[in-house]
Amino acid sequence: MTASTLMAPAGRTVIVGSTGFIGRFVAEACLASGRPTYLLVRSGSISTSKSKTIKCLQDKGAVVVHGSINDQESMEKFLKENEIEVVISAVGGESISDQLVLIDAIKAVPTVKRFLPSEFGHDIDRADPVEPGLRMYNEKRKVRRRIEEIGIPYTYICCNSIAAWPYYDNTHPADVLPPLDRFQIYGDGSVKAYFVAGTDIGKFTIKTLDDARTINKKVHFRPPSNYLNINELATLWEGKIKRTLPRVTVTEDDLLAAAKEMRIPGSVVASLTHDIFIKGCQINFSIDGPTDVEICSLYPEIPFCTMDECLDEFLKKTLEVPKGIGEQMVEEAKEEVIAVKKPRQETLISGGVDKKANEEAIAVPPSTRSEALAIIA
Ligand SMILES: NC(=O)c1ccc[n+]([C@@H]2O[C@H](COP(=O)([O-])OP(=O)(O)OC[C@H]3O[C@@H](n4cnc5c(N)ncnc54)[C@H](OP(=O)(O)O)[C@@H]3O)[C@@H](O)[C@H]2O)c1
Repeated sequence: MTASTLMAPAGRTVIVGSTGFIGRFVAEACLASGRPTYLLVRSGSISTSKSKTIKCLQDKGAVVVHGSINDQESMEKFLKENEIEVVISAVGGESISDQLVLIDAIKAVPTVKRFLPSEFGHDIDRADPVEPGLRMYNEKRKVRRRIEEIGIPYTYICCNSIAAWPYYDNTHPADVLPPLDRFQIYGDGSVKAYFVAGTDIGKFTIKTLDDARTINKKVHFRPPSNYLNINELATLWEGKIKRTLPRVTVTEDDLLAAAKEMRIPGSVVASLTHDIFIKGCQINFSIDGPTDVEICSLYPEIPFCTMDECLDEFLKKTLEVPKGIGEQMVEEAKEEVIAVKKPRQETLISGGVDKKANEEAIAVPPSTRSEALAIIA
């Protein structure tokens, strides 16, 4: 970054959604960057894992503020009293429209120099998923238009897919281990996508805040080392586990049928999976418009965690963590995978996939570290 592009470091930053999947990565990176970090946390009953997340972020210096972005008056008061300069929202799919109220609060607070709405995916003005993904995109588009209309300086983070096996019915695939039984390959498995580690999504999101080149821009994440199709991803994982796994085809019709079921959020993920791995929504446009910037061109000196390295991390989670913790992690993954795979059975049957292959596809993954080791051995 040159002196002309480097701005005075952004000051007080509030993160909405830090207990969520993407928000936690952003909050961790914000704290690591040393800027004063506030977390807006909804009050009310909170799960043990979310309380642990908050405690962990507090221990690193975060200031927790209770509230909701739905409450314009108290948001305005909080932003003003704390002279907040940057607002980052990582609210989930069900709360996208709530950001319209937050925007009205930000509008009234002159200290706010930048707003990053909850994007963290595709360029929603260019991608065109089927329902129910389309509904979420329409809400995100509305948020964009309101920001632009009001004139709040913004940055839209288009980070593409999180680095993980892209299960088509799990909103948070990075929380689940890649398959150990068989791969489900979308279509012919040849459509490429970009896979970005959660820690890099957080790190580079925060990096954009002090950079004049990212004001009123869409920041696309296209790291060449993480540009893979699902067959290549499967082969890379097979290399890690030193074992070849069967590949089952999930057709375009299977994905569309899963989207049509309108199970929220699973069907949203199915519709986005269709858009990514069948239609190529991450790669079917060039990023040379006046509001496009690409993250690797902005910061060529900062390496991305490669997909190869990310899979090493997944392998470690399966194998190298101490016994006990390992069993617990695999147990958690097992619960996730069962939750993921049960509806998949119905979907695949309705999609006309061979019943026997389908029964095998829902085989329960290893329940203990030793079983996982035995499978991989
Ligand atoms: N690129 C990818 O692969 C990928 C994957 C997943 C998501 N995403 C995108 O990332 C963004 C975040 O999604 P996510 O899945 O990380 O969300 P999430 O896990 O559902 O977390 C949402 C967070 O927002 C908070 N929240 C929701 N409504 C709020 C309100 N009114 N006021 C204050 N806080 C509120 C929640 O708080 P509580 O703890 O109180 O519920 C939670 O902390 C979305 O735009 C999504 O589309 C991208």
